[in-house]
Amino acid sequence: MDIKLRPGTPADADICGRICYDAFKTISEAHGFAPDFPAPEVAIDVLRRMLANPKFYSVVAEVDGRIVGSNFLDERNRIAGVGPVTVDPAVQNRAIGRSLMDAVQERASERNFPGVRLIQAGFHTRSLSLYAKLGYDVREHLVCMQGSGLGISVEGHVVRKATKADLENCNRLCRNVHGHDRAGELKEAIAKGSATVVEHDGRITGYATVIGFFGHAVGETNKDLKALIGAAKEFAGPGFLLPTRNGELFRWCLTNGLRIAQPMTLMSKGLYNEPSGAFLPSILY
Ligand SMILES: CC(C)(COP(=O)(O)OP(=O)(O)OC[C@H]1O[C@@H](n2cnc3c(N)ncnc32)[C@H](O)[C@@H]1OP(=O)(O)O)[C@@H](O)C(=O)NCCC(=O)NCCS
Repeated sequence: MDIKLRPGTPADADICGRICYDAFKTISEAHGFAPDFPAPEVAIDVLRRMLANPKFYSVVAEVDGRIVGSNFLDERNRIAGVGPVTVDPAVQNRAIGRSLMDAVQERASERNFPGVRLIQAGFHTRSLSLYAKLGYDVREHLVCMQGSGLGISVEGHVVRKATKADLENCNRLCRNVHGHDRAGELKEAIAKGSATVVEHDGRITGYATVIGFFGHAVGETNKDLKALIGAAKEFAGPGFLLPTRNGELFRWCLTNGLRIAQPMTLMSKGLYNEPSGAFLPSILY
């Protein structure tokens, strides 16, 4: 099969978004899980925004002039994020996914990203095998948590909307936990109005770009994350991602009625700093 790769453009959003929706729906339903995207329009909208954002590198695969898949590299931060990579279910398992992964890896090398990360659907044996073969290591077992907003506050921990003036304090927190900041993403979230911070003892001790699938959060302690999760009105998208190794926070979520929507895996290639502190990754890593 002759696979042609080319950069994506916003004009590809409808077809790539449809394929993205179909690919996730097919694999999720085959395993008895709810699809990541509730409707094709949601996937189309997400991909349209990524295709239009110059901070995302995109690649589209074609076979015989027909689009069969796409992949993305999130270049907003010092560590790059891969995905979503999706291939038309009709032509999966024929090396198209591998080509799309090679393309973003080449881009990451050209742009000198010291490390690349992705989140994998934990039940999907094919993507797990493909990523492992391409050199990605399993770093963290995650669960995607969903439920109604908890409306819980944590004593002495005040949650408020983040502003531009909070950027440096938040970036410092992120560097303390991850060894690098996620300034690009945070700036976008503040501009959008979705980011929150938690203050304790008169200083910022945690922040979230949003508590949801496309957001990340860091905190000095679990109390900071509990305050941020507890204050969220809803958990955007399929849910927020939680490292199960953080047993205390995991149990707190379960005790407060949240449910596991699906298991997931954080994988990385290249530089990886073992996080020190409390964190929630985003689906983009
Ligand atoms: C994941 C996905 C992008 C991969 O694309 P693809 O074109 O189907 O995959 P490829 O054929 O390029 O690669 C699959 C590899 O896994 C191997 N593989 C598949 N199932 C396997 C298994 N159970 N055990 C071991 N290896 C397996 C294949 O042999 C192949 O390896 P190779 O490249 O060395 O031959 C595609 O299947 C998809 O869109 N899935 C649904 C959406 C999704 O889950 N996306 C990823 C989000 S994390």
